[in-house]
Amino acid sequence: MVTTNMFSCRLVLLTFCLCLHVPTTFGGQVGLNVSVPENAAVGRNVVSLGARLGKQWEGDGRCGITSGDPYGRFIISTNCTILIANALDGSVKSEYTLRVGIREWSTGKIDNTVSVRIQVEDVQGYPPVYNDSCAMPTKADNVANPLYMGLLLDLEGTTIDRDYFSIFDGILMYDKILLDVKKDFVAIDQGGDCKFSFLWPARDEVWQRFFRSLWGAGLRSCSDWTDPGTNKLSMSRLQTDEASFVMASGERDLVKKWTKNNVNDIYQFTGTWVSQEKRRLTCKITNLSQRIDVVIREKYYQIESVQKFDTIMFPVGCEAGKYGITCQKTCICKNGALCHVFNGACKCTQGWQGVACDIPKPSVGIETTPSNPRHITISGNVTLRCRAHHVAVRTLHWQFPNGSKMATSDSNESVVIFDKLETNDEGIYTCTIMTSTGEVMATTFVLNASCPVDRKGSLCTEVCGCDRAHCDRWTGCICGEGWTGSRCQTRCPDGTYGKGCARQCSCQNGVCRTSDGSCDCRDGWYGSDCSRPCVTGRYGRRCQNTCACRHNGSCSHVDGSCQCVGAWTGRYCDVRVMKGNGEPYVETLVPIVFFLLLCPVVLLVLYKKGWLCCVTADDDEETQVLLELQRVEADLTQGLQPGWLGRWEKKAKNLQLGDLIGAGLFGEVRNGELRTPKGKIPVAAKSVRVEDAQSYRDFYREVAILIAVHEEKDHDVRRSNIVQLFGVMTKAAHKYIILEYAPKGDLLCFLRQQRNHATAHTHVTFLPYAVHIARALQELQRLRIVHRDVAVRNVLVTRDNVAKLADFGLARDVYATTQYVSTPRQGDGVLLPVRWMALGSLEMGEYTCQSDVWSFGVLLWEIASLGDEPRYDDRARLTGPVLIGILRRGARLRKPARCDDGVYAVMRSCWRDDPETRPTPDSLERRLEHLHQILDPNFVIEMETVV
Ligand SMILES: *[C@@H]1O[C@H](CO)[C@@H](O)[C@H](O)[C@H]1NC(C)=O
Ligand SMILES: *[C@@H]1O[C@H](CO)[C@@H](O)[C@H](O)[C@H]1NC(C)=O
Ligand SMILES: *[C@@H]1O[C@H](CO)[C@@H](O)[C@H](O)[C@H]1NC(C)=O
Ligand SMILES: *[C@@H]1O[C@H](CO)[C@@H](O)[C@H](O)[C@H]1NC(C)=O
Ligand SMILES: *[C@@H]1O[C@H](CO)[C@@H](O)[C@H](O)[C@H]1NC(C)=O
Repeated sequence: MVTTNMFSCRLVLLTFCLCLHVPTTFGGQVGLNVSVPENAAVGRNVVSLGARLGKQWEGDGRCGITSGDPYGRFIISTNCTILIANALDGSVKSEYTLRVGIREWSTGKIDNTVSVRIQVEDVQGYPPVYNDSCAMPTKADNVANPLYMGLLLDLEGTTIDRDYFSIFDGILMYDKILLDVKKDFVAIDQGGDCKFSFLWPARDEVWQRFFRSLWGAGLRSCSDWTDPGTNKLSMSRLQTDEASFVMASGERDLVKKWTKNNVNDIYQFTGTWVSQEKRRLTCKITNLSQRIDVVIREKYYQIESVQKFDTIMFPVGCEAGKYGITCQKTCICKNGALCHVFNGACKCTQGWQGVACDIPKPSVGIETTPSNPRHITISGNVTLRCRAHHVAVRTLHWQFPNGSKMATSDSNESVVIFDKLETNDEGIYTCTIMTSTGEVMATTFVLNASCPVDRKGSLCTEVCGCDRAHCDRWTGCICGEGWTGSRCQTRCPDGTYGKGCARQCSCQNGVCRTSDGSCDCRDGWYGSDCSRPCVTGRYGRRCQNTCACRHNGSCSHVDGSCQCVGAWTGRYCDVRVMKGNGEPYVETLVPIVFFLLLCPVVLLVLYKKGWLCCVTADDDEETQVLLELQRVEADLTQGLQPGWLGRWEKKAKNLQLGDLIGAGLFGEVRNGELRTPKGKIPVAAKSVRVEDAQSYRDFYREVAILIAVHEEKDHDVRRSNIVQLFGVMTKAAHKYIILEYAPKGDLLCFLRQQRNHATAHTHVTFLPYAVHIARALQELQRLRIVHRDVAVRNVLVTRDNVAKLADFGLARDVYATTQYVSTPRQGDGVLLPVRWMALGSLEMGEYTCQSDVWSFGVLLWEIASLGDEPRYDDRARLTGPVLIGILRRGARLRKPARCDDGVYAVMRSCWRDDPETRPTPDSLERRLEHLHQILDPNFVIEMETVV
């Protein structure tokens, strides 16, 4: 902007040399003294020469800097004002004496020079310090976390209506509101000591309520219990009328502006962060009687007695080139320098200096490959490169630890290569250069290698044998938190945790996680020290299960078993004890029998009244189907209200069929369009090919299940993880089930497509799909419907990356053929997915919610192996009886390569012999969500898509 008319410095110099013109008007001695703080912004005015010299210069570009600015820190504008062109740094150069040449406008010759002495004032705390202890990673492109830090909440308590409440969620991070208000966060202090502080005005009512209630409950600080005094976070509420803020005037003005706009809830968060990984911080709540209004996904929960309030924090970092609490500031670091996300401080590469690393630093340095000295190992391939920066080199020589020397001349770099580093190569390497001006510069590097993996000792000949620890060359195994022993092979003894097992646990009815000391409560207990029994009506792990005892039976908070009272007995106190020799009469049968009796009566009445005259055919079909289904699955038919089939019937003319997208022996799926009053929607239409009894039953079973699911009063199609039903066509020549179209296809193909670019981490990123299916199983469990074929081939992936459970008819082989085996035990010709089936289903043909959980375990295995075929004993084809033998022996699917231990543990729990001990779908959801949060640093994204 200023440069167009400006004098070229070089040109000015040339003019000087040629003319050797002695300035007269100002006598050459005119000097100006100015000072400027070193943190002055680029573009700021330093001094206006015209004003200082009493001249009325137009913007005619008569002035030019002729010398005194070796690093190009200043420019001069057309109106002769000196401006800052690049960031200053008093520690590199604290004083500049610029000489400015001024042209006589009429002759075009420089006839005056002014010398301007610019004093760079030292500013405390500037330049910012790059502190390696809190260096953070560069944020990956796909992470939506709005702050440079991730935050999860682990909270337990009871709601105001006395129910148990818990969240383990990243509410503060991906909540849309927070993303919206991201711009409100204002960093007020970002030290080089890993301390940070920022202000945040809670403008939104939702956040006001949440933070006010936290404040009222006495929440002031959270700290790392495992390593006290390291990571902490504290909160304070600004009394905006108080004048004594320890803040710079800029921030005070900001606060004033907020209060003027009626934002009265302003919080200041301060903290220290020195960890490279995830840490648990425990928060102190002092006023337990205060209610807390928690907001999760924009919904309130009122928590009355908080028994646990932990935050789990982890570094996320900013995108490359950005820094600041919300990553909104642009780094100034140049020449490959790293930029600290806390304060934007630059860590210069060799040969550069200054706050922005843009000032050449004449120096000599030694760089290594591998660049991280800790990765230099004995027997490794190591390179030492001595390089001179910004100087002309006359000679360069190395001095090696063995005393020998190596010299080169006229080259500004020299390399020493060790193909296979040996212990006698270690020691001090000195590189010395002599510049063309005779100056000598030297630098040293101490080559101090580590041993190859699991080796120690001065010659790296001893074996460490560490179990889960780093093997240090000099000290041997260095145990992580929660481990001890010479090889770190043992967990901390009961009741202790942390580094060196030095800290005491406080868990009462649970075990202490030896890593961070948090309590893992036994079934039936909760709270930070597991001292609280589940509230009435809840039981099990993390009190996640709801008691099913009926007729005032009391429920064990541990296992949910019922203690019946009065005339009731049975597992859920729903069996009436009959006097005399009568059979126990199961109450749950009442609705079915009642329904069976009532149904024809109702139909008859409606028919008589003439209301049904046009739909008689439907009802015949409907009743027939219902009776057929009732014989096999009473629970399913309970969810259906009369008219169920008719309500979903669509006219053939409204369905336009497209391409075949899946086909097998028994059925096929085509895509298509369904015309509805709201317009055309893309659908998948599924039809039966073979008109046999089994296919007929499967077809209607699927129809009945989907209708039961969709007609349930709480069903929400947008949130459901069950494939959406648009309608059925049962009266046309071809019967169709019309479903939502999932453009990404089935999960099996989807997983197999990912194999080419898979990493050890890949399966973790697919865990959200398993979470979705666990939710689908919960929906089915509520309706007491059993799927019977939970497998990745029967899961569809929608455009928004939501997994939905489909194929309820056990519609064998619409998508695959080899997975089903004909088994004689369950009727000839019935193909069954034996390798997905639970023991009980294989042995007795029994299908329950727990047998679906078994299959879910296999589904998880398929996800972890990215769509491998499950194999027992390396056999692809197995008959039912052979598999029963294998499973009864205790054999299970092996852990897929690269699968996380925690994920495999979840699978194993699904494959327990005793169905009652398998996890419930809701506990599966929690465990997997938890694992995903722990294992996947990018999980925030996945969570976003779930919302
Ligand atoms: C500018 O300041 C320096 C040191 O403060 C002083 O020596 C010099 O005389 C001053 N020059 C003028 C012109 O004021
Ligand atoms: C000269 O120009 C600069 C920027 O181009 C401007 O900031 C400054 O106010 C001007 N000064 C005068 C005296 O016109
Ligand atoms: C980095 O931060 C830590 C923790 O606050 C502090 O102890 C250390 O002195 C800091 N290092 C530098 C170079 O400032
Ligand atoms: C001394 O060490 C250097 C580098 O490690 C090697 O190239 C050289 O051969 C050694 N000289 C003697 C005499 O061992
Ligand atoms: C050692 O590494 C360098 C580059 O880092 C490579 O060019 C060279 O081939 C490697 N040597 C061996 C023996 O691996």
